[in-house]
Amino acid sequence: MKKLLIALLVLATAAFVFAKGDSQSGSGGVTRGMNRKIVMGYSQIGAESEWRTACTNSVKAAAEEYNVELIFSDAQQRQENQMQAIRSFIRQKVDIIGFTPVVETGWDAILQEIKDAGIPVICVDRQVTLAAGKRQEDYITAFIGSNMQAEATKAAQWIVNYMKTTGNTRKKDDGRTDINVAILEGTTGSGAQVGRTEGWNAEIAKYANYKTIFRQTGNFTRAEGQQVMEAWMKSPQANDIDVLLAQNDDMAIGAIDAINAAGKKPGTDIIIVSIDAVKGAFDAMLRKELNATIECNPLLGPQVMDTAVKILNKQPITWWVESEESQFDWTNAEAAYPTRQY
Ligand code: AHR
Repeated sequence: MKKLLIALLVLATAAFVFAKGDSQSGSGGVTRGMNRKIVMGYSQIGAESEWRTACTNSVKAAAEEYNVELIFSDAQQRQENQMQAIRSFIRQKVDIIGFTPVVETGWDAILQEIKDAGIPVICVDRQVTLAAGKRQEDYITAFIGSNMQAEATKAAQWIVNYMKTTGNTRKKDDGRTDINVAILEGTTGSGAQVGRTEGWNAEIAKYANYKTIFRQTGNFTRAEGQQVMEAWMKSPQANDIDVLLAQNDDMAIGAIDAINAAGKKPGTDIIIVSIDAVKGAFDAMLRKELNATIECNPLLGPQVMDTAVKILNKQPITWWVESEESQFDWTNAEAAYPTRQY
């Protein structure tokens, strides 16, 4: 009986903590730019990458700075956990909801519930795709994040230019020789994976000699990037890989370990480009193991809080202000490194 009671107590505590999220609040006062303190429910997808950690830290720090009460919930990569957290925000009558959709689809019903409750919602980092005929602008008050297609376009352009001018240890791109590409994709169905795949496909289609010989998800994690690359390096086609495109830096960093373990030189035998521009990518570029990274800015917190205040004050906002982003390679990584914030 005693054991049963203890077990029930542990379960009840866990359920309470989950439903409530991890609440971060200053002591009273008013939110910057408001005449009262506002409450934001925020559903983050998890902590799969260096980028994601930087994004979470940015949102939490900005909430402190603006004196916003943040009810933060980590969905551990599961859409159902995000739904549960968002429903709990609605029940708690938060002033505004922020969330990063782990995948693009499946949000129609919950967005309708948020709309019915009259709560504004900011989508952060990744967008959603609603049923045919529905526009996300009618359900989501603002979007804050990057242009995923454009990032992959830049990656493709960087690779084509580098293969033409420099190449790897085996070949240069003369427009006729096949350039064999392996692609590590992010979480299947996420806005980042879908957008980056579309951007890459559209740009690389202009160059008929670029052939994709491997393509698999590494779920945006270092461990899975390494595992998938290990399997590719053991396959009969391992020696054919000229270029690796990783849809984020973490997967590239994992893959670099696998390439080294297979006795090849990352960055020279296989040209490697990824997306994010986290510090780990700069370390790899300075070791000449990663050739380039395309920036995807995770420091979205201040823009999220600023937009929330404007929405709640009924001030005009732009639905999506695209993040300004750069790109780095061996020509500028060393100079930029000391200025990097994530
Ligand atoms: O949605 C942004 C992507 O998600 C980042 O590129 C990746 O690192 C993250 O996990």
